[in-house]
Amino acid sequence: MKIGIFDSGLGGLGVGLRIIDALPDYDYVYLGDTQRVPYGNRSQESIYRFTRESVDFLFEQGCLLIILACNTASAEALRRLQQEHLPTHYPERRVLGVLIPAAEVAASQGKRIGVLATLGSVDSGAWPREIHRVAPDRKVYQQAAPLLVPLVENDGFRWVAPILDEYLQPLLAHGIDTLVLGCTHYIFLKEQAQQLAPGVNVISPEELVPDSLADYLRRHPEITSRLSRGHTREFLLTDLTEEYVGLAQRLTGRALTFSRVEL
Ligand code: DGL
Repeated sequence: MKIGIFDSGLGGLGVGLRIIDALPDYDYVYLGDTQRVPYGNRSQESIYRFTRESVDFLFEQGCLLIILACNTASAEALRRLQQEHLPTHYPERRVLGVLIPAAEVAASQGKRIGVLATLGSVDSGAWPREIHRVAPDRKVYQQAAPLLVPLVENDGFRWVAPILDEYLQPLLAHGIDTLVLGCTHYIFLKEQAQQLAPGVNVISPEELVPDSLADYLRRHPEITSRLSRGHTREFLLTDLTEEYVGLAQRLTGRALTFSRVEL
C-alpha cells in the first residue's frame, strides 16, 4: 500500500518532496485540492469536510498512511479525523499531520515562541495547545498572515518583505527567540523571514517532518511492513491549469507531471 501526502494546494509539495527524497523507496500519491484552495480563511466545518473527502479519496487510491502536509488541515481537521472518522471507517489506516512534529521541536528549542500561520490555524488554537502539551511554561504568540499565501501563489516574492515585516513586528515586540513557519507556503519565504528576524531560530516544517516520519515508520512495523516499495510517484490535483504546473515548477524547481482527479 502507498503513502498519501495531502495539501490544500501546491504549497505542500515543499514538504512532500522532502519526504519523498528522504524515504525514496515507498510508493507515493500527492493530492492537492487546487479546486478549493485556500483553506486558511474557511470555517472549521468546511476545512474538516474538504480534508475528510481528500483523505477518503487517498484511501480509495490504496494509501495506508496519509501525511497532512497542510498546516491548516492538521490544525483544524486532524484530531477529529483520528477520533471520529478513522475508527468507524478506516480503523487500520493512519493519518498524521505536520503540526505536532513542528510544535514539539519548537517547544524543545524555544522559550518564547512565535507562530506565523493562516487564520484557520491561529483560530484553532492547535499551536499553543500542542506546544504546551510538551512544555506548559513556554510563551506562545501567534500571528495570522493571510496575505502571504496569495503572494507566493502569484509569484509576488518581490512584495513580500514589507508585508512579512508587518506580520513579524508584533511577534518580535514580544521578544520571541523562536519562529515557526506554520504554513506550507511560508517555507518558501524562510530566508526573508530569517533576514527580518535576525538571531531568531526559524523552524521550518519541511526540515523536520521527514525525520519525524522515518521515526514513526521505525516505531510502527505493523504499518511499515504493509507499505509497498515500488518507487512510484503520482501527483494529483482537483483542478489543473498551465498556471498550476508553472507555479509547481517555480516553487520546487522540478518539472512534475500532474493529473486531474474528481474527489
Ligand atoms: N496549505 C495551507 C497551510 O499549510 C496554506 C494554503 C491554504 O490556506 O490553503 O496552512
